[in-house]
Amino acid sequence: MSERSIGVTLLGCGVVGGGVVNILTQQRDLLRQRTGLTFDIRHIVVRDAGKHRGDLPVPLTTDAAAAIDDPGTQIVVELIGGTTTAGTHIERALKLGKPVVTANKSLLSARGGELFALARKHDTCIAFEASCGGGVPIVESLMKGLLANRIDALVGIVNGTCNVILTRMTRNGWTYDEALKEAQRLGFAEADPTLDVSGRDAAQKLALLASLAFNVGVAESDIHVEGIDTIQPTDIQFARDLGYVIKLLAIAERHVQGVGSKDPHHPGQAKPGEFLNLRVHPTLVHKDDVLAEVGGSFNAISVYGHALGHALFYGRGAGQMPTASAVVSDLLGVALGTTPLAFKQLRIFPDTTPRASVLPFHDLQSRYYLRLMVKDQPGVMGQVSQILGNHGISLSAILQRETDDGQNVPIVITTHRATEGPMRRALDQINALPTITPPTVCLRIIDQPKEFAGG
Ligand code: HSE
Repeated sequence: MSERSIGVTLLGCGVVGGGVVNILTQQRDLLRQRTGLTFDIRHIVVRDAGKHRGDLPVPLTTDAAAAIDDPGTQIVVELIGGTTTAGTHIERALKLGKPVVTANKSLLSARGGELFALARKHDTCIAFEASCGGGVPIVESLMKGLLANRIDALVGIVNGTCNVILTRMTRNGWTYDEALKEAQRLGFAEADPTLDVSGRDAAQKLALLASLAFNVGVAESDIHVEGIDTIQPTDIQFARDLGYVIKLLAIAERHVQGVGSKDPHHPGQAKPGEFLNLRVHPTLVHKDDVLAEVGGSFNAISVYGHALGHALFYGRGAGQMPTASAVVSDLLGVALGTTPLAFKQLRIFPDTTPRASVLPFHDLQSRYYLRLMVKDQPGVMGQVSQILGNHGISLSAILQRETDDGQNVPIVITTHRATEGPMRRALDQINALPTITPPTVCLRIIDQPKEFAGG
């Protein structure tokens, strides 16, 4: 078997870059034994060479153009993040026909179609395993192991920060602020956690995963996004009493809408056909669902294939070495030729597929959890259930605890499957009742084993 040495340039050398250097140097012999390949880090490009310390194999440089252009650079690894500088450097590498390995979900979810097309034009490729699910090999699985399946749904916990916060709130009974502070102290949450807790990071990952799974172009803006920063401990407790755990889920499902499935309040809006339902929001997950057990910074992605049924991809979704593991596996795939071949042959990337037909969010069908703050007086429940009934929404459970306050008491209602549009209109009417203190909390419930697994 032939042995080859591959020249690599690293753009960015933060936490993940350090992990990549670690694997390429510490595991050099293992990688060579397995693949016949050794990787020689030719350049490490950083913004400020004075800031970095540690044992690095080459001197740092700030000249990205020279590093990318160096004929000895055969693969460019982009670990800068963001969409501006990273985008410029990736374009430069692709135009030279050099393959790019990146963890940059922001850039790929915003400009993936364009960059994939650029790579194709210059007969090269982009590898992006580390952009979704950290070290979990979900991109590789969608590009290979799951190819025989029509994917019916992909449901994932893909943001470790949110999962750490929700896990602490659930297990310790903490408030959101307490859990966030602890996550920041432990290094799981950024000083500015907005991208993570708003659900945007998960939406960017979902855009990439759904594109590959359903073979359509998905943009972040196609996805309905709600974050976790308004979740209250009382809802976590009520959910637990009802047998559920609250998780931030990224969901993409095939939705086949029949001719007769029109929303009676908006005739003509619900078009028949096949749509993709795309959303990221806090969700009540049944305690028996495997996703309910996924704690801390772990990620897990449930994929439902028509032939395979349910498969779960579970592992560390962030952090130095897990993410570096994905980057190095991409380097190997590129160098061995398997990734360029797949990139060339498969018609699953957003530059080779049509745009997704996205289900309008008001047509979403789901079960719901509602928490109302009501005046504890006769007739209130009657008014609420009448409004829900008028909108075709059927109640599944009602929970009220005795309180000695007598003023404002929480009532929790779960519903059978209902449609988002009528639910929103019902909530507007409920919130306008003089006996209700708005806003009413409205969360969606997913009962995966029943809805998808098919026994
Ligand atoms: N901030 C992300 C998370 C990791 O918490 O999962 C990088 O995508």
